Amino acid sequence: MAQRVRAVIEPAVLTTFQQELLAWYAAEGRDLPWRRTSDPYAILVSEIMLQQTQVRTVVPYYERFLARFPTLAALAAAPLAEVKAITDPLGYKARGERLKRIAETAMERYGGTLPRSEEELLALPGIGRYTAGAIRSFAFREDAPILDTNVLRLLVRVFAPPRAGGGAALLRRLWALAEAVIPPGQGHVFNQALMDFGAQVCTARKPICLFCPLRPICARWSSTGPTVRYAPVPPA
Ligand code: ADE
Repeated sequence: MAQRVRAVIEPAVLTTFQQELLAWYAAEGRDLPWRRTSDPYAILVSEIMLQQTQVRTVVPYYERFLARFPTLAALAAAPLAEVKAITDPLGYKARGERLKRIAETAMERYGGTLPRSEEELLALPGIGRYTAGAIRSFAFREDAPILDTNVLRLLVRVFAPPRAGGGAALLRRLWALAEAVIPPGQGHVFNQALMDFGAQVCTARKPICLFCPLRPICARWSSTGPTVRYAPVPPA
């Protein structure tokens, strides 16, 4: 097992990052239906639907799906053809099968609930580290990190983690950053803020740097040098 790392961010930089993002999110964050629930099943459905698909495309499908299959038990009991009738028009046709397999496995193992530990979530079919983090954070209110493409791009730009050691080492630093930036107790809000900021301001093409509240601490714009130290974590 590769050595884990912890990211230690300069306190003043960390405080600015947290405060500016939360202030931005309070003013500009989008009101999305899955942000109004803490039902782990609804969060799971939203996250599987949001894979490779735009937020505004997903909203009506998400609402239709939950109206037709309101619980894990209802989904597990439904014929696959009925599930796919709702999910297939979204594209990426494996989604219906994936949701149904997760529901069936959660029925067998947990009687129709979703577990809250990372280990148990990762042991469900088709749930990776990002989706596990989203469920733990948005549903169970744990300060679990999430790293999707929006969050990754934002963290790479602001903190410019070193690329030494190859892609796997970089990814470990990014997960460590995603964990280190969370203000304690606020992961469920902060993770949404990270995602939204990445989607709306720190965009892939033409990021809106001119009006960006993170500009004073962003590695793209400041010349103060590295603001993060990566410390090895001893194996448990
Ligand atoms: N993309 C993936 N998950 C999302 C979420 N919870 N909110 C907005 N966009 C997302």
